Amino acid sequence: MIILNTCAALNDWRETHSLKSIGFAPTMGALHEGHLSLCERAKADNDIVIASIFVNPTQFAPHEDFDSYPRTLEADAKKLEQIGVDAIWAPTPEIMYPEGFKTTVHVDGMTQILEGAFRPTHFDGVTTVVAKLFGQVRPTRAYFGEKDYQQLQVIQRMTKDLNINVDVIGCPIVRDAQGLALSSRNAYLSDAEIEIARRLNQILKGAKERFEVDSITQLEKELKRAILDAGFDKVDYVAIRNASSLMPIENASEAMRILVAATINKTRLIDNMPL
Ligand code: PAF
Repeated sequence: MIILNTCAALNDWRETHSLKSIGFAPTMGALHEGHLSLCERAKADNDIVIASIFVNPTQFAPHEDFDSYPRTLEADAKKLEQIGVDAIWAPTPEIMYPEGFKTTVHVDGMTQILEGAFRPTHFDGVTTVVAKLFGQVRPTRAYFGEKDYQQLQVIQRMTKDLNINVDVIGCPIVRDAQGLALSSRNAYLSDAEIEIARRLNQILKGAKERFEVDSITQLEKELKRAILDAGFDKVDYVAIRNASSLMPIENASEAMRILVAATINKTRLIDNMPL
């Protein structure tokens, strides 16, 4: 496995593999089984696999955890090598945001609701960096976890709107044995907080059984109450939405997704599930 950290090295690597299909897993590092499952899927679908590791400053608001976000390049590289990833693209901040950088990729509408309502600058940071990564790596297919479900929908929209020739593939959420969705931010949770966090998945599963379209608002309210009763300190949203547009449900035949963001102490967790 090779670690690439200049555009010239990436371009040379890319030229060497110009006739092959390239699977790409963009990450911010601090890799867990969820990230590795993206690489495994990329391996199964493509001739070669590249993962990127870049903690992207523009998707964090000033009060968020950019400075404390875990940076574990050496351990990450070992994990990727063990599962047979061919290359890591680890650009510097200067490559991603050179002096005088002035461009933002903005997907309208979908980025202002749910996560976007609470993190207004987040998705512009994500779409801008992913558009850059796609331009640099030029993959055949790119793999994103469904844990960041809204991010996946936004990136699919961007790719379609800009005719970016990359097949964007969503991969199932990887959970621990008790159902907690794996996330690099779980590292911030104490043992007691992990126990609380694990209840979220049970609550969402319960929602499936109690679901009726004409009582969506009531069910959302009940779920919010249940999440607070389970020990979470704050619920930003619990929303049952159209699975691709993320807009409110208008009729029972729509594919639906339930999405939640809630905080324990200072750690904000998100989760979602099909209904
Ligand atoms: O999902 C993530 O880890 C990040 O948002 C991504 C897609 C790597 C962009 O920085």
